[in-house]
Amino acid sequence: MLEQIIILDFGSQYTQVIARRIRERNVYSQILRYDVPADEIAKLKPAGIILSGGPSSVYAKDAPLPDKGIFSLGIPILGICYGVQILAQFLGGKVEKGLRREYGKGTLRVTDGSCPLFTNLPETLQVWNSHGDKLTRSPRDFKSVAVTENSEYAAIENREQRFFGLQFHPEVAHTPLGREIISNFVHRICGCDRTWTMRSYVGQAVDAIREQVGTDNVILGLSGGVDSSVAAALLHKAIGDQLTCIFVNNGVLRAREAETVQNVFGKHFHIQLKYVDASKRFLSKLRGVTDPERKRKIIGREFISVFSDAVADLKKRRALAAHGRPFKFLAQGTLYPDVIESVPIAGNPAALIKSHHNVGGLPKKMKFELVEPLKCLFKDEVRELGLELGLPREIVFRQPFPGPGLAVRILGEVTPQRCEILRNADAIVVEEMKTSGFYYKIWQSFAVLLPVRSVGVMGDERTYDYTIAIRAVESQDGMTADWVKLPYELLEKLASRIVNEVKGVNRCVFDITSKPPGTIEWE
Ligand code: XMP
Repeated sequence: MLEQIIILDFGSQYTQVIARRIRERNVYSQILRYDVPADEIAKLKPAGIILSGGPSSVYAKDAPLPDKGIFSLGIPILGICYGVQILAQFLGGKVEKGLRREYGKGTLRVTDGSCPLFTNLPETLQVWNSHGDKLTRSPRDFKSVAVTENSEYAAIENREQRFFGLQFHPEVAHTPLGREIISNFVHRICGCDRTWTMRSYVGQAVDAIREQVGTDNVILGLSGGVDSSVAAALLHKAIGDQLTCIFVNNGVLRAREAETVQNVFGKHFHIQLKYVDASKRFLSKLRGVTDPERKRKIIGREFISVFSDAVADLKKRRALAAHGRPFKFLAQGTLYPDVIESVPIAGNPAALIKSHHNVGGLPKKMKFELVEPLKCLFKDEVRELGLELGLPREIVFRQPFPGPGLAVRILGEVTPQRCEILRNADAIVVEEMKTSGFYYKIWQSFAVLLPVRSVGVMGDERTYDYTIAIRAVESQDGMTADWVKLPYELLEKLASRIVNEVKGVNRCVFDITSKPPGTIEWE
């Protein structure tokens, strides 16, 4: 069985960060709801358990509490923030309401350097706190091993039972040496080896896919984005020609997108690829539509219909072919953050924010079983896996691109002429961002076509043309974003190339709005 650490989620916004920090140490970790029964946890044979932080108070009426059986499994436990208060609540310590919330940077002084959490760490280190209640008496048989200005119990241990608690958050970037603390927990205390790598995952995933699929056939909707591309490469490695990918050109793709997908997957990987050029059909449905949400709905609906037709066509061909077995499975590039059941606790923003963008979702009535070979991976792991499988960096490190494509970047009506203008301007943005090295450093950079015309001069002539807005943002997850301070020389080059090379554009502006209050896309 895969060596792993279980994280019980009490609703902290940082729970996923803990899981990623552990996986960065090449140890597999999974997030489970805080109340999973201890015997189910025991069946997974985890090498350690982490109790996450959370917004509640252990004394609150509906405070989320774990099964107390977890303390008798003989498995090491680390409580973080709210997790320490859980230790106190169950093992006889005392938690009191802090007079004020301790929030922000603090200095930790390690008072017992022999505690294995602090092996190879300095005596004082910077830590990040975010808690209201605080520990005022350690649980029975625990002792304090580190203090901060505000707490005598910033870190506690019961070394014999291998139970540890940290009042601060080791998983966040504001605790610069937090990675080492987590590493000490998983390697020194839980004894985990570095077995979780994408190289080893390829083998496991291939076996699992073969076992699930058997000799049946699989369909995958390829968008050209990172997730579906990596899923395609992985499935192809596992089942070869039992995989067929469908790529739909919806008429609102970027320049050369359709060609790139056909080159990489068709010519290079020799994946069975069905290319459907439905651009005319999409554009005719979008004619006259200006409302952004209607554009999204139309594109979503058309996609389902075009995809279903393509599947029906493939099925017909298979039925005619002598060796044809039906398509039993649909593959999807679902990632781990989409499957983690979020803990609905007030104050946990992660519980409230769920992806509101789901263009490309297929209806349940398409009778397929699902294959989701990326569903236990985080995005950075998917990229690493993509490289491992030999996908080009251009695809693996591609910036996110919305399902409704250029349609939500052409304000007002989407016409073939406007698509052409935006595609040309956008190609220049992509090219210059790559040349300058910014493309791979930031979250997204793109052009937006505004539906207003303004006056300009070109040569001796007066022009009356469209405006292009350039957007470049930094973000961790698309939920919040900051505009990127691109150098003036780069902005100058972008504006001059776009106005000179793209017919129909005579003005460029740069968007300097952060999110919130703005959004990343303009529609
Ligand atoms: P906003 O504009 O909401 O965008 O700040 C946040 C992130 O989501 C992407 N986005 C979409 N992705 N379908 C998608 O697949 C959509 O309709 C959609 N709208 C926005 C956007 O590119 C950004 O990364």
